[in-house]
Amino acid sequence: MTAGWSAAADLVVVGSGVAGLTAALDAAAAGLRVVVVTKDAVDAGSTRWAQGGVAVVVGDVPGDSVEAHVTDTLEAGGGLCDPAAVTSIIADGPAAVARLRSRGARFDPGPDGRLARTREGGHSAFRVVHAGGDATGAEVERALVGAAGGLPLLTGHVAVDVLRDGHGAVAGLALLDDGGRPGVLRTPAVLLATGGYGQLYSSTTNPETATGDGIALALRAGATAADLEFVQFHPTVLYTGPAVGRRPLVTEAVRGEGAVLLDRAGRRFMTGVHPLADLAPRDVVAAAITRRLAETGTSCAYLDARALDGFARRFPTVYAACRAAGIDPVREPIPVTPAAHYSCGGIVTDAQSRTAVPGLYAAGEVARTGLHGANRLASNSLLEGLVMGARAARAVAADRAGGLQQGHLHATSLREGGLAATGAAAPAVPIAERGVVQRAMSGAAGIGRDGPGLAAASDAVEAATVLGVPIDRAGVEDAALTLLAQAVLAAAGTRTESRGCHVRTDFPARDDGWQRSSLEVGLDDRGRPVVRSERTVAA
Ligand code: SIN
Repeated sequence: MTAGWSAAADLVVVGSGVAGLTAALDAAAAGLRVVVVTKDAVDAGSTRWAQGGVAVVVGDVPGDSVEAHVTDTLEAGGGLCDPAAVTSIIADGPAAVARLRSRGARFDPGPDGRLARTREGGHSAFRVVHAGGDATGAEVERALVGAAGGLPLLTGHVAVDVLRDGHGAVAGLALLDDGGRPGVLRTPAVLLATGGYGQLYSSTTNPETATGDGIALALRAGATAADLEFVQFHPTVLYTGPAVGRRPLVTEAVRGEGAVLLDRAGRRFMTGVHPLADLAPRDVVAAAITRRLAETGTSCAYLDARALDGFARRFPTVYAACRAAGIDPVREPIPVTPAAHYSCGGIVTDAQSRTAVPGLYAAGEVARTGLHGANRLASNSLLEGLVMGARAARAVAADRAGGLQQGHLHATSLREGGLAATGAAAPAVPIAERGVVQRAMSGAAGIGRDGPGLAAASDAVEAATVLGVPIDRAGVEDAALTLLAQAVLAAAGTRTESRGCHVRTDFPARDDGWQRSSLEVGLDDRGRPVVRSERTVAA
């Protein structure tokens, strides 16, 4: 590989979802030269698939408050949230939503003309604003893409390596362009906003782009990640028989508005499991469905929405997916099953999106701010993307004003960073075949894990791993998935308890010894993920 091209920017944003575009717009408004890079089409990431909405307390719902939203978030997070991060991110929600609306996003009005609200699992109030019925993410993405029309945007460009100067600070980003040609964006600031890693699993709500690229880039640049074992499974995706790849989501708002879960015999099974029954936090519902499927030897549960009025109008996306599968949710219960949905952990950042690497920032699903802990509260993800995207832009602007400058991108650092811009070979990284990784993770690292299974999955990934140089998007993604599989398996094997989304059949109870302990993962000298430390989460 030789470097075919180069360009410069004050900030390179990797990813064009809610966090990335919010950051890019705000940074450009602050006078920074911003370039947005995305490996696919601008709207191909996870944001546009979000259904339920944005959880936010605007202040016009009697009985609801920011404090109640904070309490619900902490409760869902199973003791692992950072309360200061939770409080500040949720408090910034109303302003972030107002800014999004000023950029053109249209949320659904209720009958009284104020914003309509729905409810989802774990929420004590109707506080989730939505758009297009159940197409909130699509509207958020539409508005942000529209607002970002004038920004330099490189679609079809895949980030290969974060390049650093001799002091370890960010000096650029190595990429492959849409023709597979290597190049460099010289910049003192890179914001990773690449989403999660749902594609580690055979069945997921995530699009094909969700391959954990940002976490792999950050780990290789010397940052740490945490809480990676907390992979959230959405309780209800449409079940159409054994299937792989992205599965259609059936938003929790359907339960929020009255639908209930049934087993094959037509019995409700959430009553008695949790005081909120069918509206328990997502980890509780997904685990209960998994248990009931095992007890009854069945492949799916059923979501009975027949009592809801105006289903097709209120939930057009879900209705269309059901009808395409030959199911009429107005007349029959919807077959559902859990699937991988959200990465509660990610790159460790402070409350302003800064990682431990100077000049490297992360925001959105790729980051671990402490908002989600062991289990994210429904619809807190778009909220976090909006708030943390804006904070990332402010952090970059402040750091630049404070002296953050383009580091010296010399040949040694390029080789160390992994790009063959000088004509040297890029370093080889471990790469396993994607199908092997997905089968290993789906079999051993879903809801209900145990030590021997996790160890066997690690062995299977290891046996399928070879050293290789990624020369295209698929190679970059496979290398990221391989690294993420190793990291998630290492963290899940270390946490010998069940908490939130991390359910161990050999350690089925919560262990107070793990209370407030968050596992951090870094890379060792050979580039392999190791669980390095337990970071204590504030009480
Ligand atoms: C849903 O609509 O059920 C998903 C929303 C979310 O993941 O927060």
